[in-house]
Amino acid sequence: MTTPPAPPLPIRPVRADDPAEVDRIYDICLRTGASGEDATGQFADPRLLGEVYAGPYVRFAPELAFVLDGGADAGPVGYVLGVADTAAFEDELERSWWPGLRRRYPLGRFPEGSPDAGVVGLIHEPRRTPPGLLHAYPAHLHIDVLPDAQGGGNGRRLIETLTDALRAAGARGVHLGVAADNVKAQGFYEHLGFRRVEQADGHVYGLRLS
Ligand SMILES: CC(C)(COP(=O)(O)OP(=O)(O)OC[C@H]1O[C@@H](n2cnc3c(N)ncnc32)[C@H](O)[C@@H]1OP(=O)(O)O)[C@@H](O)C(=O)NCCC(=O)NCCS
Repeated sequence: MTTPPAPPLPIRPVRADDPAEVDRIYDICLRTGASGEDATGQFADPRLLGEVYAGPYVRFAPELAFVLDGGADAGPVGYVLGVADTAAFEDELERSWWPGLRRRYPLGRFPEGSPDAGVVGLIHEPRRTPPGLLHAYPAHLHIDVLPDAQGGGNGRRLIETLTDALRAAGARGVHLGVAADNVKAQGFYEHLGFRRVEQADGHVYGLRLS
């Protein structure tokens, strides 16, 4: 028997001032954080991934953060998070997001080589996006949908919601990074018109918006 496609769920702007919703977004980030699969067992600290890949987007660009609403009991079951100007966002994080996290997560807090230590390394030495990539694709995004809500067009509608909002914000292109072994997501992006962009490290995809 084949699994029926997930039903289309409502998409709405994030409630950035609702701590339960933000917790839920962090949880989705963890549950899809191992190249698209559940990373729960891999991290000693369940909030670490969200502190890097979800929290700052909700905090600094809530107008470009949308959730897939699973209903009153479930809350968000997926999200797309974006920023229109990646360079300005990275500057803002250096000023007001990373310093607090560096105090909470000092280097050496987790065993060397552990997944937690890898993320703490990113907090202390965040990667800056290369200017060449930003020229064509100044915006960037993250999308994650829980397994039960995947496969019925929810991912496509989340991407379209964000790209409409990015166009309205004047962004001429959007990029994203994807793990080399997340072939499912790579197929999804290519199907939606994203094209692979040559980068020294990692798999990066870009989509022109104008
Ligand atoms: C990747 C992800 C966002 C896709 O969302 P989804 O709801 O599963 O995908 P959709 O059902 O919206 O698919 C949209 C379209 O892409 C197509 N598609 C999906 N995956 C595909 C693939 N691997 N190859 C080719 N086409 C694909 C669908 O057939 C559909 O086509 P259509 O709209 O023309 O009929 C979702 O699976 C997910 O969150 N996965 C786990 C987390 C993750 O990997 N996030 C990305 C990290 S970079």
